[in-house]
Amino acid sequence: MASELIFRGHETQPVHDAYSPKPLKPWFSITRPIRYLLRDQRLIFILLGIAIATLFFTFAPSSRNNPAPDYDSLPIPYFQHDSISTKSLPYRMPIHTQLGKVPLGIQRKGLRIVVTGGAGFVGSHLVDRLIARGDSVIVVDNFFTGRKENVMHHFGNPRFELIRHDVVEPLLLEVDQIYHLACPASPVHYKFNPVKTIKTNVVGTLNMLGLAKRVGARFLLTSTSEVYGDPLQHPQKETYWGNVNPIGVRSCYDEGKRTAETLTMDYHRGAGVEVRIARIFNTYGPRMCLDDGRVVSNFVAQALRKEPLTVYGDGKQTRSFQYVSDLVEGLMRLMEGEHVGPFNLGNPGEFTMLELAKVVQDTIDPDAKIEYRPNTEDDPHKRKPDISRAKDLLGWEPKVDLRKGLPLMVSDFRQRIFGDHKEGATST
Ligand SMILES: NC(=O)c1ccc[n+]([C@@H]2O[C@H](COP(=O)([O-])OP(=O)(O)OC[C@H]3O[C@@H](n4cnc5c(N)ncnc54)[C@H](O)[C@@H]3O)[C@@H](O)[C@H]2O)c1
Repeated sequence: MASELIFRGHETQPVHDAYSPKPLKPWFSITRPIRYLLRDQRLIFILLGIAIATLFFTFAPSSRNNPAPDYDSLPIPYFQHDSISTKSLPYRMPIHTQLGKVPLGIQRKGLRIVVTGGAGFVGSHLVDRLIARGDSVIVVDNFFTGRKENVMHHFGNPRFELIRHDVVEPLLLEVDQIYHLACPASPVHYKFNPVKTIKTNVVGTLNMLGLAKRVGARFLLTSTSEVYGDPLQHPQKETYWGNVNPIGVRSCYDEGKRTAETLTMDYHRGAGVEVRIARIFNTYGPRMCLDDGRVVSNFVAQALRKEPLTVYGDGKQTRSFQYVSDLVEGLMRLMEGEHVGPFNLGNPGEFTMLELAKVVQDTIDPDAKIEYRPNTEDDPHKRKPDISRAKDLLGWEPKVDLRKGLPLMVSDFRQRIFGDHKEGATST
């Protein structure tokens, strides 16, 4: 007998699908949203909304509605106005500065930058510029020669942080750039504890390079013209390898910086860290340590205190003197540029010590006496940078000459020595 099993599921059923839409007529698909918009005065409300938004973005004072002070517009002390321009770095300027009004939420975020030694003389001026540019800055300093007063005007700014830390100890921070300045720079300070000086240069630099490698940050080393020692080539080009005493009293600094340069290049070649090297020549300006043994600060402090200006040796040894705003401009261009370096950053104007003493006399006290003392060991006879490489590749050259820069420093020194600020009494 044939099987009676029948699977009824295969029978075709009449389909009554209540949800299947009828194919729309093409004209209806266009008119339906239009009719929706016109209903209940919706269109008027939409147009009104657009008008209010347009008015808001046109007349709002800035993209920020935060009542906090506008730190970017705070004056930067001591800088020549023509030298603080950010013209050279237009792509770095915060978007709100470039374009005027920008809707909330789409502003360019500034960079996160560590400045080691940022409470010192050069570091604090660099911090001023970075903060003014809109970046977030973390200063790492052990206050050996730096002072909180140098950066105090940024306290309370949410884009500024200060960490008391010795760079010979490791540190982990998430940052985009590292300016590594931490190191005592004047002979009085670096000779105070030579072993610590070399440790700062070697272990401190290693730590900061390690940090750069770990977080993928760009690293800039502030090296020095001292790597040329007592130079046999004049003026000094970056290709010159120097004439340095490896066992002298200045070697902790000179050889320390040479080693720091070596480490920097090895991290670059071996670990692919993006690095920059600046060789800084004598720099002066406000916030230098008083009585730190550097010739400009010595002369200025002595002249203000009515003491004789101390000239070591016959006073015919030469130096070049760079105003701090020029140096900061060079450091920032180097960091933002494409070239590793090393780059000489200094003012090629060459002065003998006696010529410098004359400028100080003219600026502060024409009656200031000169006192000669025996020269210190390993004091270089000549120092003058060849800055053609920085001119060609960074488009940088110093703008502030000694007679313009010295009065700016004198008013700061006068205030710190006497606790007053006699404007106009700086140049006679
Ligand atoms: N000013 C110049 O003429 C000149 C010339 C050549 C090179 N440089 C270099 O520029 C950099 C800054 O020099 P400056 O003139 O501002 O000197 P500075 O002494 O005023 O500043 C150095 C800063 O580094 C800090 N520091 C020192 N050792 C540290 C450590 N172990 N850990 C953390 N912080 C430490 C100090 O407290 C200070 O704030 C230095 O690296 C220096 O070698 C300066």
